[in-house]
Amino acid sequence: MPKKKIIIANWKMNLIEAETVLLVKELIKELGDSPEKVDVVLCPSFIPLDEVSKLLEGTNIKLGAQDIFWETRGTYTGEISPRMLQEWNCEYVIVGHSERRQNFKETDEMVNKKVIAAVENDLIPIICVGETKAERKAGKKKSVVKKQLLAALKNVKLDRAKEIIIAYEPVWVIGTGKPVKPEDAEEMHVMVRGLLDKLYTPALRDKYFRIIYGGSVDSKSASDFFKQELIDGSLVGGASLLVNEFVGIVKAAANY
Ligand code: PGA
Repeated sequence: MPKKKIIIANWKMNLIEAETVLLVKELIKELGDSPEKVDVVLCPSFIPLDEVSKLLEGTNIKLGAQDIFWETRGTYTGEISPRMLQEWNCEYVIVGHSERRQNFKETDEMVNKKVIAAVENDLIPIICVGETKAERKAGKKKSVVKKQLLAALKNVKLDRAKEIIIAYEPVWVIGTGKPVKPEDAEEMHVMVRGLLDKLYTPALRDKYFRIIYGGSVDSKSASDFFKQELIDGSLVGGASLLVNEFVGIVKAAANY
């Protein structure tokens, strides 16, 4: 049975609060307040979370954050704790995005701590994994993603989780406007699914996980990805900043 698709907007560090509010209002108008056939999640930067949470009240659009710290409180200057995300009514949180792994040297161990913190605090982690161009050229795409996934899921108590989203994002296509071929993404999804089946069981994988693709998806390419049986949705960066593009992606997902 194909799963309900989930489309997640990652606005990264692109919008100030006023711009975020405008975009959210437009999306609510365009998507209606209840995208029934598709789960839609918006991930603004931290500052507008409170404001966006109020705007989304009474709609079916969900709120997510772009990162989380693993401790609930303490002397961690500049960090954002799971409690703060809960206070802002976040239900989802992106963890281990390649931009954090590359620019801020987040390690697999740090990603794992964040996944555990999310799960233990009733947040749904969106775990990003993916290979670089050099790793792909060296024939290591599967081993890299496997290593990232095994590390991210270490000691995660599935029975504590509401859900876990795995986002396969080949690092070298993010932000380029050129996604990988949908069959190429599907091949990686087959691998991820197989790994989850081995780690848990097919039944638990089916109960707790959705596996999505991210990397230069836009309204034109979206259908080709969602047609693939194992692609449960998308994590969208650039195209999610444009109302028509993002709405087009959500509508494409609603057809599958
Ligand atoms: P992109 O970003 O859609 O702009 O490639 C995807 C992501 O970084 O999650």
